[in-house]
Amino acid sequence: MKVITTIAELRAALKAERLKGKSIGLVPTMGYLHIGHMELVRRSKSVSAITVVSIFVNPTQFGPNEDLSTYPRDMEGDLAKLKAEGVDYVFTPEVAEIYRPGANTIVDNPVLSRVLIGKIRPGHFRGVTTVVTKLFNIVQPDHAFFGEKDYQQLTIIRRMVADLDMPIEITGVATVREPDGVACSSRNAMLTPADRKAAVVLAKSLAQAERMVAKGQRSVSAIRHAVRAVLETEKRGEIESVDIRDAQTLDPVSGKFKQPVVILLTVRFGKVRLIDQRVVG
Ligand code: PAJ
Repeated sequence: MKVITTIAELRAALKAERLKGKSIGLVPTMGYLHIGHMELVRRSKSVSAITVVSIFVNPTQFGPNEDLSTYPRDMEGDLAKLKAEGVDYVFTPEVAEIYRPGANTIVDNPVLSRVLIGKIRPGHFRGVTTVVTKLFNIVQPDHAFFGEKDYQQLTIIRRMVADLDMPIEITGVATVREPDGVACSSRNAMLTPADRKAAVVLAKSLAQAERMVAKGQRSVSAIRHAVRAVLETEKRGEIESVDIRDAQTLDPVSGKFKQPVVILLTVRFGKVRLIDQRVVG
């Protein structure tokens, strides 16, 4: 496994791989890797000859009052995990390597990045689409892998690749969960033990929605109501949003849904914002 910090060095190494006819898979991350990230790595390895994992805590996707400086980091642990998984290249650039003086071009989806989480975190998705475009241009992967856990992010990236004709196949990977059902997240480490225990309520509320849909319930308001009722049983969590949207387009839905919908949750425990999602129908 090669650990590379500069764009030039990574480009040279990957050019040589491409000349040998090898396909390239990219897994973009911000590090502090857990079993969810490792699932993306495994999926990449199963379809690509060469797997590149990037570890870059991207400052442009954090707002001024967000957790950039406290975002958990563990480079040594991350590299050990990636080596054990047989990753070929890890790209760990410094901020100055990615954002050079004078850079001001951005990539933005003015529709999808303004709704849902984009409303709570203005500028967040613009930071994501810009850095992911840069990573795509640096690595030029054949495949790239993203988690369904960040459903809006995945939807925006699929839209970007289609809209800008990027020749990259995007694979969405189902959310990997802890044994109690809590979605694996680097943010879980920032929860107090009591909040970590309480966080199971997100998965519980989604399971309730799934049971209702399995029994034939298709009413958006009935499902939203039931999900909220379960979330409200946990006083430690502050519900920020419960949204039910078209699973493909993220368009709002009302009345009775006919196409699959995604239920998107944002619940805050102290300063830590947790998200979860499930597609139903
Ligand atoms: P990060 O939060 O580190 O997540 C990296 C990738 O891992 C994302 O595609 C995310 O959806 C996926 N992931 C996280 N938890 C998961 C889980 N429990 N199961 C499955 N996949 C999971 O998302 C980012 O970083 C950044 O926004 C990034 C795309 C790297 C751009 O900076």
